[in-house]
Amino acid sequence: MKEQLQQIKEEALAAIGGAESGSALERIRVAYLGKKGSLTAVLRGMGALSADQRPVIGQIANRVRAEIEQALSDRGTALADKEQNDRLSAEKLDVTMPGADIPKGGAHPLYQVEREMSDIFTSMGFDVADGPEVELDYYNFQALNIPENHPARDTQDTFYITDRILLRSQTSPVQVRTMERQRPPIRVISPGRVYRSDALDATHSPVFHQMEGLVVDKGITMGDLKGMLETFARHMFGQSTRIRFRPHHFPFTEPSAEVDVSCFVCGGKGCRLCKGEGWIEILGAGMVHPNVLRGCDIDPEVYSGFAFGLGIERVTMTKYGIDDIRLLYENDKRFLAQF
Ligand code: PHE
Repeated sequence: MKEQLQQIKEEALAAIGGAESGSALERIRVAYLGKKGSLTAVLRGMGALSADQRPVIGQIANRVRAEIEQALSDRGTALADKEQNDRLSAEKLDVTMPGADIPKGGAHPLYQVEREMSDIFTSMGFDVADGPEVELDYYNFQALNIPENHPARDTQDTFYITDRILLRSQTSPVQVRTMERQRPPIRVISPGRVYRSDALDATHSPVFHQMEGLVVDKGITMGDLKGMLETFARHMFGQSTRIRFRPHHFPFTEPSAEVDVSCFVCGGKGCRLCKGEGWIEILGAGMVHPNVLRGCDIDPEVYSGFAFGLGIERVTMTKYGIDDIRLLYENDKRFLAQF
């Protein structure tokens, strides 16, 4: 029996030494020390021994068991250490490596120009007002002195949703919404998206951006409009910029004008940007029509005002010499990165 124990011990220790994983160790533990293990079997046979043999063999058997347990635990620790070291060296990071290059984004040129325009007007005391893009016919046309069947409705090819609801074709409805909400003195700008059913080409887009301006107070004149637009044009296009008013017609302003700025590339002599004209049209403007004021319960005998509408694409394309509006919507990074 003594030899048997010795042999079990040697076998077990050899197996433990060769084990390469925790699960292999567990299989060895079960094979020797488990209920059906070979050491357990030997211990069961001890009942057949004589009374003086039993304690001697018992002692040896306990030592063998203790040695096997110790070897299992040592090997287990060694395997766990090795596993951790392997993992750590596989996961090694070189903190001196350069980082991945994340390309930097920036504001879209249209948004940059809108912000620049807003900054100029707010520095002159304007507030910023907002209005819905899905608008009532009433605000987009009716309240702006454009009754049903008025030809001006045809010149702005409008996307209708129902008979009464449409996608606003201009930012002018915000004038009316502002005057309904607020008593004079009023001084607001309102930038935003507008919609017209135009086919997309180099100069047209079914969605584009305008900025509306509205001033209403006692004693406001066309001179105020001119002075304010001149200040704006100088800030936007350079100190030597001049403006010129050409007579025009809008149903909601009287008198009305289209406003040009002197070409800031050639200074008015005529060049490619201004197509030889020396002037570039950037906005429509005029004195708010008495009918529009009256419809908002503002007495035209007491108050007067002016309004203007600027195309943000127009200003952006002029300022940067962009000759195709589609470049502003395609989001080609090579284009956008230039701003
Ligand atoms: N809403 C006009 C347009 O889209 C522009 C405009 C605004 C004209 C305000 C006069 C006053 O053409």
